[in-house]
This record gives sequence, C-alpha cells and structure tokens, in this order.
Amino acid sequence: MSIHGCSHDEYSKLFSQLRLNEERYLDFRDVPDLLQKYVKGRVALDYGCGTGISAAFLKDLGFLVDGVDISESMVNLARQAMPENNFQVLQEGKIPAEDVHYDLVFCNWVLPEIGPKHELFSTLSEITRVLKEHGILIAVVANEASYQKDYIFKNSEFEENKNLKSGDRVKILVKNSNFFFRDYFWTDKDYQEVLSKVGLDVVVVHHPLGKDDDGIAWINEKEVSPDTIYVAQKKKKEKETYTIQKYVKGKVALDYGCGTGISAAFLKELGFLVDGVDISESMVNLAQQAMPKNNFQVLQEGKIPAEDKHYDLVFSSWVLPEIGPKDKLVSTLLEMTRVLKEDGILIVVVGSEASYTKEWIHANAEFEENKNLKSGDRAKILAKSSNFFWRDYFWTDKDYREVLSKVGLDVVVVHHPLGTDDDGIAWINEKVVSPDSIYVAQKKNKKEKEGDTIQVKTEIK
Ligand SMILES: C[S@@+](CC[C@H](N)C(=O)[O-])C[C@H]1O[C@@H](n2cnc3c(N)ncnc32)[C@H](O)[C@@H]1O
Repeated sequence: MSIHGCSHDEYSKLFSQLRLNEERYLDFRDVPDLLQKYVKGRVALDYGCGTGISAAFLKDLGFLVDGVDISESMVNLARQAMPENNFQVLQEGKIPAEDVHYDLVFCNWVLPEIGPKHELFSTLSEITRVLKEHGILIAVVANEASYQKDYIFKNSEFEENKNLKSGDRVKILVKNSNFFFRDYFWTDKDYQEVLSKVGLDVVVVHHPLGKDDDGIAWINEKEVSPDTIYVAQKKKKEKETYTIQKYVKGKVALDYGCGTGISAAFLKELGFLVDGVDISESMVNLAQQAMPKNNFQVLQEGKIPAEDKHYDLVFSSWVLPEIGPKDKLVSTLLEMTRVLKEDGILIVVVGSEASYTKEWIHANAEFEENKNLKSGDRAKILAKSSNFFWRDYFWTDKDYREVLSKVGLDVVVVHHPLGTDDDGIAWINEKVVSPDSIYVAQKKNKKEKEGDTIQVKTEIK
C-alpha cells in the first residue's frame, strides 16, 4: 500500500468516518461526566468543528451549540448536517462572537493540528476571550505518550517519531486508509504553559483508558491512553501585580522614577530586591527615608548608576507621561533597556489615550483644550485631592509602541486594568474604560530566539 500525506480537510473527513462506538470511543466516553461536573450553562462553541460530529455530540447533550472551523468546506458540511445551528468560518483567527459569551468551548482533536507555539497561544487566547468568566474549555488532544504506540485507529510507531521535541511534526498513519497525517508534537508541559499564559486554570487532566467492558478489541488503549483531556477554567480577571509575577523571572528590580518610594515599596512587598532612581533629589531623599535599606539614587544626566544588563525588571509607573519631546522619551527608554538583562522585562504604567478625555476618581481631564490632542501635546489634568493642575505629554499607543520598538523592545502584552465591583471603590468611568495602559516589553533578540512569545504585534511604519 502506498502511503500519502493528507491535508487538514482530508484528515477531518477521515475522522468523520471513524466509528464513534469504536475508533473514537475514548474521545467521547468520559466527556459527558466532565461536562456535568464542571460546566454551568448551556451556551457552547465547538471550536474546530470539522464535519459537525463533535457539535452533534454536544447538541445531543442539550447544549445550544455554535461551531467554527478554519476550513470553509468543513463548515459547509457541518451546516448541511445541522442546518439549525450556526457554523462559521474563522476569519483571520477571529471567532465571530462577543467577549465572555460561552459557558463552554469544546475543542476535540484540533490543537494537535496547530503550531508553531505562538499560533497555539493566539488560538487559545481567542478561545479564552469568548469564554464567560469561570467558563470551561474542554480540549481533547493527543497524549504525548501516544506517539510511540499502535492504537485501534492510528499507528505512530515510526523511527522518525523517536526523540520528538516540542513543536516537531509527528507522523501518524490513519489505519484503514492509506493516509498519514502530521500532528504538532506538544507535551503536557507545553499545553499547561500555554493554557496558563492565556488565563486558564487547568482543573483536571484526564486520560481515558480502554476498559474490558467497552467491548472493543483494544490494542494499547488499556495501558496508555491515546488522549489527554484538559478541563480548564477561565481565571478571574488579573490584577496589576499578577502581570508582574506572570512575566518576570528574577528578583532584581529597578523602580525608575521612584518618587517618594511608593512603587518601590510595592515591588519590595512582592519580594523584589529593589533599587530606585529619580530625577529629583528631594524625591530620592524621601524614598531613602522610607526604605533605608534600599538603594535610591539621583539620575545624573539621565544615566542610571548601574552596569549594563543588571536588572530582571525595570518598572516605571506614571513617569513616561512626564517625558517629552519624543527623542527624550527614546533616550530615557534606551537607558532603561541598557540596564535590563537579556531576558529582563520592562513594565511601564502610563495614561491610556482615553485617560485624557474623562473624569476619574483621582483626576479629571474633561477639558475643552484636551479635545483633539495630538502626539506630544500637553494635556491638562486636575488632581482632585489637591486641586492642582498638571500637564502630561500626550502619547498615543502608537507612539509608545514605536519608541519601545526603536529601543529594541518587543511589546509582549498591553494590559488595561478595569475597575470591578469587587474593588469596593466608587469608580466613575474606570469600570468601562481604563485610565491606565500597562506595557510589558522584553528585549527583541529573546523573542526571536525562542519564537514562542505572546500576542500583540502592531507594525509601525
Ligand atoms: C480532526 S478534525 C476534528 C473535528 C471535530 N472537532 C471532531 O471531533 O470530529 C480537526 C478540525 O480542526 C480544524 N482546524 C485545524 N486548525 C484549526 C485552527 N487553527 N482553527 C480552527 N480550526 C482548525 C480542521 O479544519 C478540522 O476540521
């Protein structure tokens, strides 16, 4: 028999010919119990629906199910099979649904088709976007141990599948056909890492094993499960501190523009060994009084008194909006980048563009002269507690991304923290629009080396 490689569509058609009570039995046998135990509502998305088999399975269990797939021909087949349900083709990876819409996203044998890792990341980010808070993802994928075994529906006992590394392609023979398919090899560690990075907590990892009373002539399924089933729950919205712990590896930190020491104390509380610098001598003196064991210094001609590549984290909260014109912003960020380790992280908290048009609990910027601000203009802001005005430089998201890129940093993520009811604060506009933009950035070469980093790349021309 000559063996041919097959495309996604051919593979998924083959899948639809496999018998649910035999070759695909373990994909579905235990899922109803997991659904019952972990999923609250009935609104579900079948992500990577193929010809509609997994969507029909959910519908039979009483779910109101939509389906999406990357392939138009698969979506057409699913529509024909279930004309009353809503199946759509993904456009540039976007799920056609609003944020926080689904109680459940089911993803049955789709993730092993997705790579490299940043694609896996963006797919799972998009899935997380449409999950309700505390919503559940159930993802059925290949057990990493399955790629050296012969099973009732597939065999992957090939020489070239020995010593697989994350992101490699695995050769799999689909039995009873003369096709082989190539999955991406992802380990449990890879899946757990990406799930956690996108904001999902793994609740259960289940490996369904074949049993004698299944009445199926199992090959290796009773010893090593061919499947890994992840049940993951969308985490509560993260807070600012969480962002730091999520991205920063080491403990050596600089608070750039430390002021009286409040942000440095905040970093110290989180376990960082923190130094501070500021342009103002009187601020540095106050910070030094507040934290006598830490090292605070005045910037001399913009120079940070530290060697190159010294810090794991450079943190700078509400400092950059005081810096202009743009070449000064660039030279400031260049100096911060100089003292960052190769795998260090810069976190800067600045005003969101919207912050200069609205009223907030601590400040008001609703002034006529703040309408139609252009990059580099000075925005007028009233500090409510003191009744003083101050003037920030108005920098747009595009400006910040441009200067970060110029100094050799890649934006990993931009976070806009919103006020929540749980905060117990009488927010004004903060629950709807964030007054802050938090840029998390890392040195460019790190990203290129690892090839697996995260989110958001806006091209700046
Ligand atoms: C093996 S089939 C499984 C179909 C269905 N979930 C089932 O259990 O019968 C995998 C499906 O994932 C789809 N797929 C592959 N990559 C995808 C991606 N990046 N986004 C969405 N769907 C994708 C393929 O087009 C295919 O229909």
